[in-house]
Amino acid sequence: MPLRSNHSFRPTRRFFLQAGLAGPALRFLPTTAAASPNGKLRTAHIGVGGMGGADLNSIASHGQVEVAGLCDVDVERLEAAAAKHPGARKFRDYREMIAEMGDSIDGIVVSTPDHTHAPAAMTALQNGKPVYCQKPLTHQIFEARQLREVAKQKGLVSQMGIQVHSSAPYRRAVKMIQAGVIGPVSQVMAWSNKNWGYDGGPISGQQTPPDSLDWNLWLGTATARDFAPSVYHPGNWRKLIDFGTGTLGDMGVHIFDTPYAALELTAPRWAMTSCRKPTHVGHPERNVVRYEFPGTKHTTDKLLWTWFDGDWAPPQVSELNLPKDWDLGGLQLPGQGALFIGEKGLMLLPHVAEPVLLPEARFSGSARPDVADGNHYHEWVDACLGKGTTSASFDYAGPLTESLLLGVVANRFPEQKLTWDAENLRVTNLDAANDLLRRPYREGFAVAGL
Ligand SMILES: NC(=O)c1ccc[n+]([C@@H]2O[C@H](COP(=O)([O-])OP(=O)(O)OC[C@H]3O[C@@H](n4cnc5c(N)ncnc54)[C@H](O)[C@@H]3O)[C@@H](O)[C@H]2O)c1
Repeated sequence: MPLRSNHSFRPTRRFFLQAGLAGPALRFLPTTAAASPNGKLRTAHIGVGGMGGADLNSIASHGQVEVAGLCDVDVERLEAAAAKHPGARKFRDYREMIAEMGDSIDGIVVSTPDHTHAPAAMTALQNGKPVYCQKPLTHQIFEARQLREVAKQKGLVSQMGIQVHSSAPYRRAVKMIQAGVIGPVSQVMAWSNKNWGYDGGPISGQQTPPDSLDWNLWLGTATARDFAPSVYHPGNWRKLIDFGTGTLGDMGVHIFDTPYAALELTAPRWAMTSCRKPTHVGHPERNVVRYEFPGTKHTTDKLLWTWFDGDWAPPQVSELNLPKDWDLGGLQLPGQGALFIGEKGLMLLPHVAEPVLLPEARFSGSARPDVADGNHYHEWVDACLGKGTTSASFDYAGPLTESLLLGVVANRFPEQKLTWDAENLRVTNLDAANDLLRRPYREGFAVAGL
């Protein structure tokens, strides 16, 4: 069945079944990728500047990787990466790279702006390639669902680029929560004082893009518009609703990852945001986003999760809803982190630092599990070569991303509780919100399955 972009399209379970994207797919486990005759994993990289440069270095540091292809829409960035990997073929359009290189690549790394994650990753999966894709997995909720289903259906190794997921402090926090150290958890507070929002009006000052940049390819699936310097490329696209996911999608995916994994959360029942009125241009510069999740074996009967960002982070102690007579013992909250509120105590988890148990007196002398740092990148390479599995596969990253993105959708309807039917991918009480779960792709950029 051909899958076309259609603005009013609302996927149902029946749709997924017809498209062969659900049900039987659940039976498949990732298979291994074919490595080259010399036993190396030949990788191709889409987006090699910014974080893509760091991803390239980290993947290439594995002794069994051969960097075979490099792609970037900015020639200056492409040439800088190519100087370090002179044997790799160079491309500006990832569709050409995947089509032309075919069987001479074994795995694909996607490090582009968020709006290009799904089209690039899906093209890789549809061509039978394992994928390492930067966070958040996708820009749209529908895309996250589809990547997860197709990776599963094709049995391909996948990993979302949340490298801190494999760090010792985060792994240790997961073990401690699951061992019940602070008892069943009723609430999680999470925050980032970064500001990846833009409260201004429509973008003006349009100009000709620099010669080095292929602006049409950079826009990709998004609606065409003129270039403006220092607004989109590089980096600032994350503030704008058509390209990024704001601070919630950008940092929230790292900070929410440990609570999500530790508590084995599924899909939220609802999400509600407090922020300024929508401008339809940028994400809000400050947000408070509330979610309710169904209870799990590590939580009370339900789990309330609250996110604060921009200069509303870190939250004030009075906003933490701490149980009576509990406090932080004068501890300053870090600029980014999470706080778990359990029946027996609190766990403060500063962003990529060791967990702190509170009140201190209650937990003095409590044992800390011995956990080592993992290498998130090498884990993906090893899994592609048939050794072990990935810890942030699309099976995990898809539902995590869908949950976060529901909050991004809620930003467009401040103070309205959006009730969520995850199975059918629908907001049940506000039809206008369903129009924001999937957007049509620009003509010439259609991708099967999206
Ligand atoms: N995991 C982390 O800690 C971490 C940190 C920073 C960024 N990121 C993620 O990495 C991604 C990139 O972020 P960034 O800050 O490096 O952005 P950036 O704008 O600085 O870099 C993006 C790169 O991709 C290239 N690019 C853009 N569109 C492309 C296309 N269609 N095909 C090929 N190349 C294309 C750009 O030219 C540029 O080199 C984002 O998804 C972001 O969320 C992750």
